[in-house]
Amino acid sequence: MSNMMAALEKSRPEPGLWRVEAPVPEIGPDDVLIRINKTGICGTDIHIWNWDDWAAHTVPVPMITGHEFAGEIVELGRHVTGLTIGQRCSGEGHLIGHESRQSRAGKFHLDPGTRGIGVNEQGAFAEYLRLPAFNVVPLPDAIDDEIGAILDPLGNAVHTALSFDLIGEDVLITGAGPIGIMAAAVARHVGARHVVITDINPDRLALATRVANCVPVNVAEEQLEDVIARLGMKQGFDVGLEMSGNQAALDQMVEALVMGGRIALLGIPPGKSPVDWLRIVFKAITIKGVYGREIFETWYKMIAMLENGLDVRPVITHRFPVSDFREGFEAMLSGRSGKVVLDWTGSSD
Ligand SMILES: NC(=O)c1ccc[n+]([C@@H]2O[C@H](COP(=O)([O-])OP(=O)(O)OC[C@H]3O[C@@H](n4cnc5c(N)ncnc54)[C@H](O)[C@@H]3O)[C@@H](O)[C@H]2O)c1
Repeated sequence: MSNMMAALEKSRPEPGLWRVEAPVPEIGPDDVLIRINKTGICGTDIHIWNWDDWAAHTVPVPMITGHEFAGEIVELGRHVTGLTIGQRCSGEGHLIGHESRQSRAGKFHLDPGTRGIGVNEQGAFAEYLRLPAFNVVPLPDAIDDEIGAILDPLGNAVHTALSFDLIGEDVLITGAGPIGIMAAAVARHVGARHVVITDINPDRLALATRVANCVPVNVAEEQLEDVIARLGMKQGFDVGLEMSGNQAALDQMVEALVMGGRIALLGIPPGKSPVDWLRIVFKAITIKGVYGREIFETWYKMIAMLENGLDVRPVITHRFPVSDFREGFEAMLSGRSGKVVLDWTGSSD
């Protein structure tokens, strides 16, 4: 094996990513080395590509980006047990410490010192990735590398959707991005009654109906109160999953919820935004912020649901060899795509 590898790097503090030759990472005693087969492009990668304020303040340069991946273990650190060379895997991209109260309580996803691969540590847009063995999630045969590469965002959808009991409930999802769409599929899979998804982008709403049995609503054209009446709901939605980061969407959600409704917030607003707390208090609404995936309960549940018939593959709308990564980012930047997957298997050709 050569000690150099191809990688997509933020090499300079300006828009874009560059294909570079970088050293294959050296692993420590508790790490594994993973040969990357497929990667997904995330909205975070788009922030880094665009080099917006968040990226400029967060990401040190140079940085190999990317955190959605599937591959195969090619090297084991000397302390690693329970994993084998050749094992197919994905993995949790949040690197956590083990000293905090939360970690010691087993609530790893709440560790305040979390660092992200592809953001704070060298990432997965590369032929090889170093990852702590703790973070590795082995893939069963039923989950191929393409689905393995989108388990991270599917995990966001699963974590958010499973925040509240959805069985028999009417669920409103605001934001038909890839994560909102996958959350619709999850809500349906676990037994919600009505699943309504909103957006202002017709392409995204059309994609939502190809992935999940859900009711698309373009809020630029239709009022949610009309949809509530049309579907025969008595008061409104029982549970809201906010997946747009848009203030207007959250306001509409609060209005469209029943008294005592529950909201899980995944969408990241661009900054501080005014919230109608009075309305939230008098409607006795419960709000939960959601960050990442529960480590590793979300991974367990999502893999089990995929093995049990959950199908999110149609959310992948574009596939490119990594040599065409610019086309992949253009598809994402168009705002019309679902998930975009890059194939690294021929990357050294
Ligand atoms: N909390 C976390 O750990 C975490 C992790 C990953 C992503 N996120 C956030 O989750 C959200 C969803 O991720 P994604 O990759 O699917 O994002 P995305 O940007 O692809 O999708 C967001 C969608 O919201 C739509 N939207 C905009 N205004 C709207 C409105 N008024 N009503 C309804 N929809 C509206 C957009 O058209 C877009 O289709 C994003 O805000 C992302 O930043 C959070």
